[in-house]
Amino acid sequence: MSGFIADRLLLFGATGDLAQRMLLPSLFALDADGLIDPNLQIVGTARSEMDDQGYRNFARAALEKFLPPERRGSFATFLNRLRYQPLDATQPEGFAGLAQKVDGVGRGLAIFLSTAPSLFEPTIAGLQAGGLTGENVRIGLEKPLGTDLASSCHINDAVARAFPEERIFRIDHYLGKETVQNLLALRFGNILFEPLWNAAHIEHIQITVAETVGLEGRVGFYDGAGALRDMVQNHMLQLLALVAMEPPVSYDATPVRDEKVKVLRSLRPIAPEETVIGQYTAGAIAGAAVPGYLDELGKPSGTETFVAIKAHIDNWRWQGVPFYLRTGKRLPRRTTEIVVQFRQVPHSIFAKRGARTEPNRLVIGIQPAENITLSLMAKVPGLDREGIRLRSVPLDIAMDDAFAGPTRRIAYERLLLDLIEGDQTLFVRRDEVEAQWNWIDGIRASWTDQGLTPKSYTAGSWGPSAAIALAERGGVTWHE
Ligand code: BG6
Repeated sequence: MSGFIADRLLLFGATGDLAQRMLLPSLFALDADGLIDPNLQIVGTARSEMDDQGYRNFARAALEKFLPPERRGSFATFLNRLRYQPLDATQPEGFAGLAQKVDGVGRGLAIFLSTAPSLFEPTIAGLQAGGLTGENVRIGLEKPLGTDLASSCHINDAVARAFPEERIFRIDHYLGKETVQNLLALRFGNILFEPLWNAAHIEHIQITVAETVGLEGRVGFYDGAGALRDMVQNHMLQLLALVAMEPPVSYDATPVRDEKVKVLRSLRPIAPEETVIGQYTAGAIAGAAVPGYLDELGKPSGTETFVAIKAHIDNWRWQGVPFYLRTGKRLPRRTTEIVVQFRQVPHSIFAKRGARTEPNRLVIGIQPAENITLSLMAKVPGLDREGIRLRSVPLDIAMDDAFAGPTRRIAYERLLLDLIEGDQTLFVRRDEVEAQWNWIDGIRASWTDQGLTPKSYTAGSWGPSAAIALAERGGVTWHE
């Protein structure tokens, strides 16, 4: 942790979808639990013309809509912290008014940029001109940070002109999820797993991020991005890095990010036959009919809504261990999970008595339910007159049962608090983002070279059958 605790928070994109669904509810929850300084002033800015009271009404409506009923309470104290300044970030002259509203940087100013990436550059220039940069100012950047390595470098260069890396907080909201942090507790808080966490004992790893939702009204954005850039470039590669990294020397920003970036740089370029892309057609999810992607979009498109990849990490620990990644929209259920498939025992002492052993498997459920299941072989009770029978039984930990007391916080509560207080551990460093883009750009270039187009899959299925074949060619079945 470094530096100051901010007493001013400036939100760009204050009327946007993220602000309504996540940022305002998270700030309210932190306020209600007494976790933010009573003096913290929050200034929202966006293009819409509104005064302070107008924004407070807007925020109240968002809280009423998006806060779960059990988290609601009196909104008055929180709403009183809010002020608003309309601003067109492409017009430099507007920043003087914004600076006046923020009223200096106080003890410290935290800025959160949740706007179109095309506005990043003019916004940074405006902040500089308005005196809203400098030692006691840090900036949080919401994705998308570019659409490829070149555009991401461009954005990073623009931000670096006003802020040093220690004051830039790049958000990947998956890192704010409790369960994702728990992955590190599981790996490095126990002695059991780490000696086995390598190619000698692990056969393959699967990472699935499945969603049931479709376009959700994000037509303009999603069609220009696709599943690879929307989900794999950031969230899935961060999960992969946490699963595969070497033990950091401590749980702090520099050691954790040093280890993650080494993994990201070790990703082997992907051959075209190691990816499958898909696009959903009309189907049904949980019994309800849903339209196809092109119907939702209203025009032809070659954008992928599903991607499966067989990835490899070229280092000593992971040589020969495939990492199967898949993500998609309109899949049968919402689930994010990591499956660690261990190898067979080297020799079965039970084989002559007819028993078969199955390799152990660790399933780390990240959402919606948080649970960890380790499958172990056990003897089926009996006198074994017809041979010994072994069966795989689960050792199950449901986190909700294990930790019934502590409040479950959504990712943005954690990330906003870390931004206000200056802890970068759960934020992505520039070299990580660039290593991520570098690998993703290679995949996209290979698709273009091969003229690859998405195969269709019915909404409510697990993606195109080619994705099943991709795993089966390696003797692997996707965990479902
Ligand atoms: C976002 C993507 O980053 O993550 C969305 O842009 C996706 O397309 C979302 O739906 C998933 O986040 P979560 O927290 O619901 O798994």
